[in-house]
Amino acid sequence: MQVFSRRFVLGLKLCALAIALAIFIALLAWRIMIKPHPAVGAPVEQVVAFSHKHHVGDDGFDCRYCHTSVETSAFAGIPPTHTCMTCHSQLFTDQPMLAPVIDSLRSGKPIHWKRIHDLPDFVYFNHSIHIAKGVGCEECHGRVDLMPLTWRVAPLTMQWCLACHRDPAMHLRPVEHVFDMGWKPTEDQRELGTKLVAAYHIHTSTLTDCSTCHR
Ligand code: HEC
Ligand code: HEC
Ligand code: HEC
Ligand code: HEC
Ligand code: HEC
Repeated sequence: MQVFSRRFVLGLKLCALAIALAIFIALLAWRIMIKPHPAVGAPVEQVVAFSHKHHVGDDGFDCRYCHTSVETSAFAGIPPTHTCMTCHSQLFTDQPMLAPVIDSLRSGKPIHWKRIHDLPDFVYFNHSIHIAKGVGCEECHGRVDLMPLTWRVAPLTMQWCLACHRDPAMHLRPVEHVFDMGWKPTEDQRELGTKLVAAYHIHTSTLTDCSTCHR
């Protein structure tokens, strides 16, 4: 004898299927929203083997030559092909390594650089405020001047952001040194940092509010 009617059992099965499908779609959306960054310390291969070690470490080019908007906007900026060509229309033009750069210039299609840092969209981050308040590039990106291919040094987790926002003094330098690599304080970092927190009017009281980074 059947306890439940056939129709009821079928309805139940369809319900279970719909729930499983909904969970699957939600998980998929979650994965797409939180794109994993390349691993910490893993050099990222690009279509052009661009070397910060050569351009910054050996030749001493300033970050702002290529990352033009880092001081003025949320986004640091990735250089367009014509920035490379200001030098490479003369230099190494026949090198196979540079072929994708020349192709990009001819076709007008930008070079596809894989992103190394990419926060989920629900996090608000802004370069310009950090630069203006004496947080050096090195503090978050490490010794870029020693990287033949670029890699990530910071975990980029919420805990990592918060650790500095709770107590920024240990991470600050005078603003004229934010672009320097390998900078070392000449006095005790705690004393210097405390002075800079005051001088730059850094308001630690609201820096850990959820709405600072999730707006
Ligand atoms: C001559 C141009 C040039 C200069 C100068 C330069 N960069 Fe870059 N940078 C690039 C290019 C091209 C990329 C994309 C390829 C890559 O990731 O290596 C890049 C990528 C990066 C990234 C990774 C971006 C991502 O995808 O998350 C960081 C961080 C970075 N640069 C920091 C710096 C810092 C700090 C300086 C100064 C010390 C600097 N760069 C100087 C051209 C430059
Ligand atoms: C301000 C001038 C300048 C700009 C801008 C510039 N380069 Fe270079 N590039 C150089 C010099 C100088 C060298 C030789 C570096 C060395 O060997 O020390 C070089 C070398 C290279 C090489 C050969 C391999 C190596 O690293 O030695 C590649 C590839 C390259 N650059 C790619 C790029 C790309 C891609 C861009 C744009 C994002 C770019 N460069 C922008 C000056 C520049
Ligand atoms: C407080 C930490 C911090 C400092 C200081 C910092 N960055 Fe970044 N940088 C980040 C984070 C976080 C991202 C990823 C941003 C995103 O995904 O929205 C990033 C991304 C980048 C990118 C990729 C393009 C972009 O804007 O997303 C470049 C290039 C870059 N940084 C260069 C620099 C340079 C040059 C400096 C110094 C002038 C610097 N950064 C200082 C944390 C920092
Ligand atoms: C090494 C230290 C350091 C790290 C790491 C850091 N920050 Fe900051 N952040 C600061 C300082 C210093 C300020 C300036 C605060 C001020 O002006 O009062 C700031 C300011 C900000 C502001 C602007 C706050 C405002 O009131 O307008 C935002 C947004 C922000 N940070 C987001 C982030 C996020 C997101 C991360 C992690 C991905 C991060 N920060 C990592 C030091 C840091
Ligand atoms: C200084 C910046 C900052 C502040 C302040 C901040 N968050 Fe976040 N939050 C982040 C970043 C960065 C991520 C992304 C972490 C990742 O991708 O691993 C994140 C992720 C999250 C997530 C997603 C789940 C996770 O842990 O990855 C939740 C939920 C969240 N934050 C809630 C909050 C709440 C609630 C507050 C206030 C108590 C807060 N956040 C304050 C930077 C911040």
